[in-house]
Amino acid sequence: MRLQVYKSYEELSKTTADIIINLVKSKPDAVICLASGDTPRRTCEIVAERGIRERIDFSKFTFIGLDEWVGMPKNNAGSCYYFFETLLIKPLQLSSSQVHLFDALSKNLDDECKKMDKTISEKAGIDLMVVGIGMNGHIGFNEPGVSFDNYSHVIDLDETTITVGQKYFKDAVILKQGITLGLQHLMNSKKAIVIANGTKKAAVIKQAVNGPVSSLFPASIIQEHENGYVMIDEDAATLINK
Ligand code: F6R
Repeated sequence: MRLQVYKSYEELSKTTADIIINLVKSKPDAVICLASGDTPRRTCEIVAERGIRERIDFSKFTFIGLDEWVGMPKNNAGSCYYFFETLLIKPLQLSSSQVHLFDALSKNLDDECKKMDKTISEKAGIDLMVVGIGMNGHIGFNEPGVSFDNYSHVIDLDETTITVGQKYFKDAVILKQGITLGLQHLMNSKKAIVIANGTKKAAVIKQAVNGPVSSLFPASIIQEHENGYVMIDEDAATLINK
């Protein structure tokens, strides 16, 4: 794992967007998985802005959404679907055949998981995963205590995720479960990047980077990824032993 610290959130976002765009340019049929949430928001905006301005061909890559709140309608502005729809899918005119997001309203969530795993294995795996880190060290909805061996699965959300997750919604919502790619997807991806910004993330970044590798703190698994990066701004880097 390599650690990279950037001056600001903007610089972190620009660099992350560069990595995504350069991959699509060098490998047009790349498979890319992104998290939603506050951290990758600016990255997605930059990818879309540059994609349009520079007329980058995004028509051949495969987009995978990392996770979704179980039971969340797509048109809820706090859903992961809505995030990607407004920030990437619409602006870049991605076709439905190249976009793979969990349907969290499906009556058969196990089938949703199997479908996602099949899509990823048929595409010969994920080239790049860009993920955030939760205030409990989760990646996607891989909550503390999750097995490192999981592929896609449905999981009961941790109290921290339920509380912090309210920030995405205008009105209070009941959040109970998540559907998510597993940490095996992360470990099997050709490149994995954990991004974080702000002083509020300093303690969890310290634990992910300097703490023991443990399923009790899922993001710590990034230490064992051969091509794993932790890319953060200076505020998120204040507590780590460099
Ligand atoms: C969202 C996701 C979550 C977030 C994490 C950090 O799709 O997978 O694991 O990445 O909770 O969220 P933010 O970026 O809002 O701090």
